[in-house]
Amino acid sequence: MPPPATSLVEPTAADMAALLALSQAAHWNQIHHDWAWMLANGRTRALRQADTLVASTLVLPWPPAASATRSDQVASPSLAWISMVLVLPEHRGQGHASRLLQESLAWLEQPSQRHLLPVLDATPAGRPVYLKLGFSDAWSFTRWEHRTRQRSVVTEGAGDLLEVGGTDASHPARGALYELDRQAFGANRETLLDDLIHRAPTLAIALGQAHAIRGFSLARPGRVATQLGPLVAQDAAAAIELVDQALARVDGPVFIDIPNARCELATWLAHRGFSAQRPFTRMALGRRARSLESECPATVWAVAGPELG
Ligand SMILES: CC(C)(COP(=O)(O)OP(=O)(O)OC[C@H]1O[C@@H](n2cnc3c(N)ncnc32)[C@H](O)[C@@H]1OP(=O)(O)O)[C@@H](O)C(=O)NCCC(=O)NCCS
Repeated sequence: MPPPATSLVEPTAADMAALLALSQAAHWNQIHHDWAWMLANGRTRALRQADTLVASTLVLPWPPAASATRSDQVASPSLAWISMVLVLPEHRGQGHASRLLQESLAWLEQPSQRHLLPVLDATPAGRPVYLKLGFSDAWSFTRWEHRTRQRSVVTEGAGDLLEVGGTDASHPARGALYELDRQAFGANRETLLDDLIHRAPTLAIALGQAHAIRGFSLARPGRVATQLGPLVAQDAAAAIELVDQALARVDGPVFIDIPNARCELATWLAHRGFSAQRPFTRMALGRRARSLESECPATVWAVAGPELG
C-alpha cells in the first residue's frame, strides 16, 4: 500500500489534543496553556497524514530590543525563534522535520520577514538536522532537574525582594524587568514575560528597588515539572538568591536551563540534589548568525526554555 498523503496544515485550537500528543511523545514539558499561547503568538505549521498530526514546528517572531528609553539605541536584530520541532516517534527519519523547517525558512526569506534572524535551541536529536540546514552553534546550556524535591527553606538573604506578580500590570518593577530581559535576551519579549507573570504570579520575583532591579526570576507550571526561567541577574549572588526564593515557593519537580558558563549556580543546585538531565545548543542561521553573541550574555542565568529562548 502506498504511504498516506502528507499535507502541510496550519494547526488551530481544534488540534490541541494532537499537538499535546506530539510534545508528550517526546517527553516534553508543555501543557495546554503553552500550545495555546504559541498558537496565538507564533506561526505554527504541521504535517497531517490522514487524521494524524505527525510533525510540528513553530516560529515566534521577537521584535528588536532597542527601547525608546535607551539613549544608545543599539541596533539589534529581530529574532525568529524556531521551536516545537517534533515528529511522532514512528514517523521519524522520513524527512518530516526537514520539510517543515525548509518551509519555515522559505517563509523567513520573504522580503517582509528577512529582518528576522532564525535562532533556536537544539536538542542533541535536533542539532544534526539544523546543521544540515546551515545553522551554526552559538553557546550551550544544560537542563538541571530535581524530580523528588519538596519546598525548601530560604537560606540566602534577600532583603530587597520584590513581588512583581498579580494582576497589577503597572507594578513599577515591570518596566525595569522588561528592560533587563531585553538587554540579556537581545530582543523584546514583553508579551511572553507578561504571560509568565500571569501564569505563576507567586514565582514572579525580583531583587532591588522598583526602578533599578538587579535581577528577576519567572516560572511556569509544566506537564512534568515547574520550569524556572528566565532568570536574569547582575551577578551570581543575585541569581542564587532568586533561585533560593523560588525554590521556597514551589513543591515538586523543577527544571531549570542554565548556561554552561554559569557554573556557580549549577554547583549550588547540585549541592541541593539537582542533576544534569541533558544538553542544548543555541544555534543561529547563516551569515547574520555572527550578530548573535557566541558567548552567553553574562546576565543570563537561566533561559526561559528551549521553546521560548
Ligand atoms: C529531531 C527530530 C525532530 C528529527 O525529525 P525527523 O523527521 O526524523 O528528521 P529528518 O528525517 O528530517 O532528518 C533530517 C536529517 O537529519 C538526520 N537526523 C535526524 N535525526 C538525527 C539524529 N538523531 N542523529 C543524527 N542525524 C539525524 C537525518 O538522517 C536526516 O539526514 P539526511 O537529510 O542526510 O537524510 C525528531 O527525531 C524528534 O521529534 N525528536 C524528539 C524531539 C526533538 O528533540 N526535537 C528537536 C528539537 S530541537
